[in-house]
Amino acid sequence: MLEDTAHRLDFLSLDPISKLEEEHEKQKTTVGAGSSWDDDNDYDIHGAIRLTDEQIDEFHSTGYLYLPEVFTAEELRVLNDELPGLFSRSEPYNISELSNSKIPRTNFASHLISKPFAKLSRHPRIIRLVETLLNDKLYVHQFKINKKTAFEGEVWQWHQDYSTWLQEDMMSTNRAMNVAIFLDDVNHYNGPLMFIPGSHKEGVISADYDTKTTSYPIWKVGNDVISQLVDRAGGKQGGIVSPIGPAGSVVLFHSCLVHSSSTNISPWDRNIVYLSLCATSNHIRRFKRPEYIAHRSFDPIICLLDDCLLDSTIDEQISVPWEGKLPDSALEVKNDIISDEDMQKVKEYPVHDEEELSTSCCAEAVVVVVVENPLNQLSIDDQYIVVDETMNTAS
Ligand code: SIN
Ligand code: MN
Repeated sequence: MLEDTAHRLDFLSLDPISKLEEEHEKQKTTVGAGSSWDDDNDYDIHGAIRLTDEQIDEFHSTGYLYLPEVFTAEELRVLNDELPGLFSRSEPYNISELSNSKIPRTNFASHLISKPFAKLSRHPRIIRLVETLLNDKLYVHQFKINKKTAFEGEVWQWHQDYSTWLQEDMMSTNRAMNVAIFLDDVNHYNGPLMFIPGSHKEGVISADYDTKTTSYPIWKVGNDVISQLVDRAGGKQGGIVSPIGPAGSVVLFHSCLVHSSSTNISPWDRNIVYLSLCATSNHIRRFKRPEYIAHRSFDPIICLLDDCLLDSTIDEQISVPWEGKLPDSALEVKNDIISDEDMQKVKEYPVHDEEELSTSCCAEAVVVVVVENPLNQLSIDDQYIVVDETMNTAS
């Protein structure tokens, strides 16, 4: 199906750079630009996949949607060829497993380091889907590759991503979406994701700040709550599901969906890209986590063309600002919530003020932060949050 799409581009006669420029102009103002559907097909001329009403209903009811084989073997090869280089860099954006610092766990901000992943972060097969579901333009809030190495990959405890995005980054509503892109086949044995269907409807659930069980802290939902949610979702009959399938498949999941994954003691790596996309109108209000974890550019994503992963002629147009050494600015953090007025300035001038940073930056070991209903989203149970300011949550 997707191979056919390339032949349907109506401006193949243009050179690649003009194609891009023309496309950028078109997309500047419109959501879902390029969605000129042909009723005989389930994709548009730019490669965006059209969701059926049943799929949209399924997403709203369960909190996730599995789409098999969205990317081809050839496209996957381009992405997978980048992995050894990305994971071999000694930079803060590479996180290892807790029990063995030689085993890579996560590579953050891959889309600012590697051209193929930069292209993936602007791919119409992904971006158009999420624009449709969130009905807004999008920016990249987080980009990471979780490796789940064969024999070594460790757990992700039960959590909701939006819990972190609210409490750490002050993202005001849950209008954000996770997109998992399988770079390897994912099966029952190599530590697939586990979802509790329907759990996204609970909103933000009370969670504990777990700094012990994995190599970066996570807002972990307690066992009692998990048992209740699983029971409510059908217990042993569907209360937990694992989306599994061939490399190239994609899973969209709601930012409040409760999820986790077990260890990988199989002989197969389980590389998955997680692209966390936020509606531009819902951007974060606090830069408490470094930029390589929670991004600060809220410019709307401009999609590339459907064949972008295989088209090396556009490479000179693809910017990867962190391809060399990670800039110091990517490590800077601030604790204050940013006002609308300051937000305007931040958009123009990313946070670089050394003096301001040295006073607001947190150096103490463990402090107790009392969060009084940040943005009025949390329940009473969530008001007191213990935070170890020296570590960064990485959901
Ligand atoms: C996983 O890769 O298994 C889970 C990742 C996450 O929740 O961030
Ligand atoms: Mn997560």
